Amino acid sequence: MSLTLDTPLDMHLHLREGAMLDAVAPFSAAAFAGAVIMPNLVPPVDSLERLRWYRREIARASQGQQFTPLMTLFFRNYSAAELAEAKPQIIGIKLYPAGVTTNSAGGVANLAEADETLAVMERLGIPLLVHGESHGFVLDREQEFLPIYARIARQFPQLTIVMEHITTRRATELLDQHTNLFATVTLHHLQITLNDLAGGLLDPHLFCKPIAKRPEDRDALLQLALTAHPKLMFGSDSAPHPRSSKEGAGCAAGVFSAPVALPALAELFAQHGALGKLQAFVSDNARRIYNIAPPPKQVTLERRRWVVPARYGDVVPYLACSELAWRIADVQPA
Ligand code: NCD
Ligand code: ZN
Repeated sequence: MSLTLDTPLDMHLHLREGAMLDAVAPFSAAAFAGAVIMPNLVPPVDSLERLRWYRREIARASQGQQFTPLMTLFFRNYSAAELAEAKPQIIGIKLYPAGVTTNSAGGVANLAEADETLAVMERLGIPLLVHGESHGFVLDREQEFLPIYARIARQFPQLTIVMEHITTRRATELLDQHTNLFATVTLHHLQITLNDLAGGLLDPHLFCKPIAKRPEDRDALLQLALTAHPKLMFGSDSAPHPRSSKEGAGCAAGVFSAPVALPALAELFAQHGALGKLQAFVSDNARRIYNIAPPPKQVTLERRRWVVPARYGDVVPYLACSELAWRIADVQPA
């Protein structure tokens, strides 16, 4: 049994830089036609000069595979002239509240001060991508941020707003309440709850922001994904950290899922009799929402068992050592 996906896209991806970029980019470039590249380097990607450098680095690390990096800038208050120049180079601008996740210290401290830039983005048609978490109690951070999404959606009705990596039932409900609100969801948030991370022996490789929530949250996200809700897109949030940053005190947040994302999604959708919805979830919805047409690529998955390696270099992947039922069999163009 096989399944060919047309132009699969990962709409939320961390590729890092330097040796880590070289180690991880080939996995995404092999499986996906393109990906939305997160700008949270140190220092962040917040100028066109840095963005062009980063795009070149990603192209180099992709090792000749056809892969379109859909670049984002790190949100700061940009002038109208800067935004007009940036528009053809970017798919959107990523806003991090200051300090909510890995490498977000330079994020926005006072959201009210973002309004002027948001107004220009709305006028120019530049999408806003948001890491929507408050600084509150860890399980409530996303829910506490939802009124801010609603406020921005109302105040800027022509602005395309993407709630990145949603993790709660409440966020799924908000999606339908504002026409300009969209969302990405990760593979791991369709599968795990807080129990998998911390219910037994602690699994640092499942620690990420936003943290995995309750079974009813996971089930609501899964329901939305399996029906390929038209406002929902796949975004892996694959976020590699070396073992030295994950295993031990002070564990960094991030799950490295790029090598398993498409096979594990195929298995998950097949288990639920929803394979027919995978194309929309991993590509069509994103192309329509962002109005993009990246160079096409056909990725064929087949039902054949394999065991996920314990490590890729210095990084432990999501689903390490477990058996998966599907694997990537062919990519055209190769
Ligand atoms: C991401 C990272 O490591 O850059 N970590 C994570 O837990 N998801 C940042 C992010 O998307 O929050
Ligand atoms: Zn992320």
